Amino acid sequence: MTDKNVYGPWAVVAGGSEGVGAAFADRLADAGINLVLIARKPGPLNETAEKVRAKGVEVRTLELDLLDPGALAAIRAVTDGLEVGLLIFNAGANSYGHEFVTGDLTRVQGVLDLNITAQMALTHHFGALMKERGRGGIMLVGSLSGYLGQAQISVYSAAKAFSRVFAEGLWLELRPHGVHVLELVLGVTRTPAMERAGLRMDLPGLRVA
Ligand SMILES: NC(=O)c1ccc[n+]([C@@H]2O[C@H](COP(=O)([O-])OP(=O)(O)OC[C@H]3O[C@@H](n4cnc5c(N)ncnc54)[C@H](OP(=O)(O)O)[C@@H]3O)[C@@H](O)[C@H]2O)c1
Repeated sequence: MTDKNVYGPWAVVAGGSEGVGAAFADRLADAGINLVLIARKPGPLNETAEKVRAKGVEVRTLELDLLDPGALAAIRAVTDGLEVGLLIFNAGANSYGHEFVTGDLTRVQGVLDLNITAQMALTHHFGALMKERGRGGIMLVGSLSGYLGQAQISVYSAAKAFSRVFAEGLWLELRPHGVHVLELVLGVTRTPAMERAGLRMDLPGLRVA
């Protein structure tokens, strides 16, 4: 998804400040695609923006929690009028690991709000514009967790299963209109979020990307 003629001139990366999201920003900037980068923490967001801006592309940053009720309006304020040919929905690592029945339902809901509700809202908005234009791409970042239930992260796994099936349906719906939909399924990947969550890189037998 680095062909500027198909996926440019602008890409939106929801969760585009760190780790995999920052790597996408880097690759897209190399391809000459302008970027709207969204994340909560201003430090990594501005650092990534500066780095990719130096490659000669235009970069807009939006410091935003995708869980805010006004998130889509805030995104539209920055993107309306731009031709967005690519949406990457990357934000979504598990924010709450706990046994389900004794867990805090509000925090569980947060996992769904990010991985399902926010993902749907952005896909709905940008997908419709791409369909009208007859070209574009949507990438949802998924997880191997979406293939099987797991203790402590049962809701996260279920949300990732949702996004996998959702992506398949969207792929079928949008393919005739020149809009490509891809779910990128990641396994364990070294990212700042995973390091903060305590991912150990030195466990025997664990090979991390
Ligand atoms: N890392 C892995 O081992 C692994 C494995 C399988 C799948 N994945 C998937 O890969 C994707 C990226 O994961 P990750 O490990 O890089 O962690 P992540 O916590 O999803 O962070 C990725 C990016 O999203 C932003 N973000 C997170 N929550 C946000 C929110 N509520 N609003 C706005 N921006 C938000 C982060 O910046 P801020 O924190 O500043 O907002 C960062 O730029 C996720 O969808 C995850 O499920 C990761």
